Amino acid sequence: MLSDLPDTLCFLNGDFSRVRDAKVSVLDRGFIFGDGVYEVLPAYGGRIFRFEQHMDRLDRSLAETRIPQPLTRARWLEIARQLMQSLAEATGATDQLVYIQITRGVARRDHVMPEGLTPTVFVMTSEMKPPSATQRSDGVACVTADDFRWQKAHIKSTSLLGSVFARQISADAGAVETIMFRDGWLSEGASSNVWVVRDGVVSGPPKDHLVLQGIRYDLIQALCAETGTRFELRRIAREEVLAADELLLSSATKEVLPVTLLDDSPVGTGRPGPIYQRLYAAYQGAKTRQLT
Ligand code: PDD
Repeated sequence: MLSDLPDTLCFLNGDFSRVRDAKVSVLDRGFIFGDGVYEVLPAYGGRIFRFEQHMDRLDRSLAETRIPQPLTRARWLEIARQLMQSLAEATGATDQLVYIQITRGVARRDHVMPEGLTPTVFVMTSEMKPPSATQRSDGVACVTADDFRWQKAHIKSTSLLGSVFARQISADAGAVETIMFRDGWLSEGASSNVWVVRDGVVSGPPKDHLVLQGIRYDLIQALCAETGTRFELRRIAREEVLAADELLLSSATKEVLPVTLLDDSPVGTGRPGPIYQRLYAAYQGAKTRQLT
């Protein structure tokens, strides 16, 4: 598998090196405990979409985990730009994902959070692999599962075994995402947020500790306002999801993506619906603004 690894540049603890060569300590708490946080920022033509919002969420994740913010925003941006430029020169990739990871640092193994560690800082970029033309025109299949993850889903933590398990349920079923329910209420996908459309209203679960507040949460609200579409956040029962006219996923890479098959049954008409078309078009417009 090592030969599959990209030979592109990354940033680790102050230095730029090849991804293949970058190494962290075996005692890094990210390795030992998954004790870290991360961000995935989409960039188009070398410019990051909604950079400030991603940085605000990174600050919130760091504050929740009591890891100090190691760099200024200007420095994060400088590093991301350098890596994006290097990847663009090497591969021609114009649209990219910037991955940032910060762990608590290196220490003797002990569950207690040690004081005064130097956080481990890692940044890499990769080519963005957007949904295929067929996925856009036909929609995608998803499956449902109980949300067995922990109760702090609002933190973008690198402790992702629950999400890995959740995603594998859909992978094993040949579907693109697992839509999860906690006690019968919609939470989110393994790595995306979920939106229900009924009678022209777009509904999403409340912004609480049970879901990751995707950067597309506020964006979808704004796109609904822009297109005159009703929008609300509230608890959504499983039955409502199964009876939806349309079902949408959102994430940095998926942008907004229609779900047309859920647990092998068609969603609504079984085709991408008008609200999807409207929000997708508005999303493409937003991508030409809010770039850093
Ligand atoms: N995942 N919910 C979960 C659990 C996620 O992991 C993600 C993003 C989202 C959508 O967030 P955003 O709109 O900010 O991308 C919702 C990223 C892309 C990942 O882990 O790769």
